[in-house]
Amino acid sequence: MPKVLRVLAIVAGVLVGVVVIAVIAVFAISGSNLNRTFEVTGDDLDIASVTDMEEAERLYISRGCAGCHGADGAGGILADDPAIGRIVSTNLTTLDYTPAEYELAIRHGLHPDGTPMLIMPSEDWITYSDEEIAHIIAYMETFEPVENDLTAQQIGPLGRFLIATDPGSLLPAYTIDHSLEAPATVEAEVSVVYGEYIGQLCMGCHGDNLAGGPVPGEGPDAPPASNLTPSESGIAAYTEEDLFASLREGIRPDGSALDPAYMPWPSFSQLNDTEISALWAYLQSIDAVENEY
Ligand code: HEC
Ligand code: HEC
Repeated sequence: MPKVLRVLAIVAGVLVGVVVIAVIAVFAISGSNLNRTFEVTGDDLDIASVTDMEEAERLYISRGCAGCHGADGAGGILADDPAIGRIVSTNLTTLDYTPAEYELAIRHGLHPDGTPMLIMPSEDWITYSDEEIAHIIAYMETFEPVENDLTAQQIGPLGRFLIATDPGSLLPAYTIDHSLEAPATVEAEVSVVYGEYIGQLCMGCHGDNLAGGPVPGEGPDAPPASNLTPSESGIAAYTEEDLFASLREGIRPDGSALDPAYMPWPSFSQLNDTEISALWAYLQSIDAVENEY
């Protein structure tokens, strides 16, 4: 074999070896990140004291659960992408969890065995009151069992790579401060403080400062989340009525429609007047950021 070919063969062999080692490393590290157990115990919330089932249903919908698990709780396929994987939201109607196991899933993003759950944005609810979470659990316990044999989660090569290099991007339990203490109850009133509490529901997509940008986990075709700060490029031109119209009817002040596949306004249409007015007070109070989204 001519010398140059021999050198090329060695280089190619080394490259193949490096790729094989990298693939093995990504599988090993992502596997260990998926199987890590977090030392967190669920709170045994008082479900028996929940009596207002209409309010329980409203909370299940308006806090965003129905958007991924369905109004009937049957779950479904959220994403089916060869690179990221097939992500399934659990069928909640046939789960047999204790209140503490439900609490661990909702507030901490952990399965009963302490391993991290995929995608579900538990950071939104880690500080939601015991009273609210108890209502949501009580509502889930009323679901009629639905046959919905969902295939197991399948994580694709890009999903594996993300979990190996930045586990918090797909496993929210890695980014949550599990020591945060949730209040027993919150005062529902038109105040900036209560508006910030409700505003937690918006931050997963619109960002912690609500200045908008690409939505984490969405593909390149998805619209970015809008800038909700009181700036020119944000919603400075909105009135409180405009905020109500965007959340209740999914329309912008110029009459254009918000796509419910990306902006889950049908869930937020169940926010009550106090919650939306408090949100308005909060959105008026935050820093104006110029950001063309
Ligand atoms: C963005 C989508 C999304 C939203 C919103 C969401 N979930 Fe989930 N949920 C998921 C996915 C995905 C799983 C499966 C996670 C896994 O198997 O790793 C899941 C799993 C669960 C589980 C089962 C946990 C387990 O041990 O397997 C429960 C219980 C649950 N969700 C309750 C809720 C409740 C209550 C809400 C609202 C407060 C909610 N979810 C909102 C996506 C979501
Ligand atoms: C799952 C992601 C997601 C969540 C959660 C979310 N949004 Fe959005 N929102 C979007 C996206 C994406 C857009 C842009 C939609 C489009 O361009 O059609 C948007 C647009 C908007 C707009 C329109 C702004 C404009 O351009 O005039 C308003 C108002 C809004 N969201 C308010 C909220 C509020 C308030 C919350 C919390 C209660 C919230 N959103 C939660 C994704 C989200």
